[in-house]
Amino acid sequence: MTYQPSLERYKTMQYRRCGNSGIKLPSISLGLWHNFGNVNDFENSRNLIRTAFDNGINHFDLANNYGPPPGSAEENFGRIIKQDFKTYRDEMIISTKAGYTMWDGPYGDWGSKKYLVSSLDQSLKRMKLDYVDIFYHHRPDPETPLEETMLALDLIVRQGKALYVGISNYNAEQTLKAVTLLKQLGTPCLIHQPKYSMFVRDSENGLLDVLEEQGVGCIPFSPLAQGLLTDKYLNGIPKDSRVVTSGQFLNESHITPEKLEIISKLNNLANQRGQKLAHMALSWLLRDSRVSSVLIGSSKSEQIIDSIKALKNTTFSDEELQIINNILNNK
Ligand SMILES: NC(=O)c1ccc[n+]([C@@H]2O[C@H](COP(=O)([O-])OP(=O)(O)OC[C@H]3O[C@@H](n4cnc5c(N)ncnc54)[C@H](OP(=O)(O)O)[C@@H]3O)[C@@H](O)[C@H]2O)c1
Repeated sequence: MTYQPSLERYKTMQYRRCGNSGIKLPSISLGLWHNFGNVNDFENSRNLIRTAFDNGINHFDLANNYGPPPGSAEENFGRIIKQDFKTYRDEMIISTKAGYTMWDGPYGDWGSKKYLVSSLDQSLKRMKLDYVDIFYHHRPDPETPLEETMLALDLIVRQGKALYVGISNYNAEQTLKAVTLLKQLGTPCLIHQPKYSMFVRDSENGLLDVLEEQGVGCIPFSPLAQGLLTDKYLNGIPKDSRVVTSGQFLNESHITPEKLEIISKLNNLANQRGQKLAHMALSWLLRDSRVSSVLIGSSKSEQIIDSIKALKNTTFSDEELQIINNILNNK
């Protein structure tokens, strides 16, 4: 049946300006790292994209290596676009990345111009797109001169294969250098994608300040710590949870009694605020205006609808913030 997006799709989502750019992003974006590979149920993946779009989540984040197998998330996303979203491309922000191992030999990894240009060409073919909206360098490369990597990003924009560029997993110092180079080249850095959640707070040690000073947006990934910052693991490990269905990046060893105690305390505080822990974890990030969007993953459509409820309350009292810090620091 032909997909008809909801006419209400722009009614509840909030959009935030991404740094100093002309682009606004939905406060919540959807990532395709998990649940979109060939190992997953295609109809569920399709439903996730439809549900997101119906609710104003019009930003979809991919990478060359998402799957498994690597590349299959882009292929499946391409199928979904072709089937359902062909006439809605101009309402969508589609991102992809290169920087991790993708193919054999010296040109399928890291940050050379050779790798980035070839990888984006492959991604566009897999997704059957003419261009992506954002192309990221996925991780810093200690060996390739930063100038070369940034020149490659600039080239890709000038070739019309990406409208904007971003960087991911760069620390504050690396970010300042990259952003400065890109500015000199005339292709400003739109956005930075760091790992940032209540459990991973390195971004607070200088990175967020650099991004604010330089007018670059910020989209934290794994804001729910892959599902740990929800109530799902409080009473055991559900069969349909990432620990069981994937187990590669999140496994039982991450769910220690100490961690569960922290999660339980955070859950109680969330309930006192009238939220679920998943909502509080997202709204805690969104309370900071430097955060342009939070980049969630979802295995079920209901999770997307649930996570959007975080937008109902993104303010915290000083006391609540202090309690959260105390819980996280085990005080
Ligand atoms: N740049 C990078 O290096 C990098 C690295 C990693 C990820 N990313 C990006 O960030 C995106 C998100 O990462 P992530 O998937 O780790 O994000 P996350 O939002 O921290 O975790 C997503 C998982 O949490 C669970 N979940 C989500 N909403 C829930 C809800 N409302 N209630 C209960 N459980 C819920 C689901 O797990 P279950 O399967 O247990 O249901 C879901 O798959 C990725 O898709 C990717 O685009 C980027």
